[in-house]
Amino acid sequence: MELSGVSKHVLLCNGVSCIKNGAEKVTDAVRKEIKDQGLLNKIHTTKTLCNGRCKEGPTVVVYPEGDWYKEMTSEKGKQLIDKIKSDQRIDDALAYTYDGKSFARFQDNK
Ligand code: FES
Repeated sequence: MELSGVSKHVLLCNGVSCIKNGAEKVTDAVRKEIKDQGLLNKIHTTKTLCNGRCKEGPTVVVYPEGDWYKEMTSEKGKQLIDKIKSDQRIDDALAYTYDGKSFARFQDNK
C-alpha cells in the first residue's frame, strides 16, 4: 500500500457489537463512496476490531483529525466522505474530537 498522497485514515469498526448494528453496510458504503469519487489515493480505510465505544456503534474514526463518529449508517458514511473532501464534519454524528491535547466530547452532540 503506497501511502504517499494519502491525507485521511478512516477506521471502520467491525467489532462484534458494531457488526450487529450494521457496520458491514457502513464499511461497504464508505469504501464504495471513496472509490466512486476517485479518492482511493487520498483516503485510506482500515477495518478494526472493537474501539471500545460499542454503545454508540457503529463507530468510525477519522485521522489526523481524531474525530470519533457514532451511530453511523450507510447514508452517514456517504456523507462523511463528502465532508472529508472539504475538511468538514458531520456534526450530528460526531461524538468526540481531538482538541490538540486530548479527546473531548463534541459539545453539540452530548
Ligand atoms: S464493537 Fe465497535 S466499538 Fe465495540
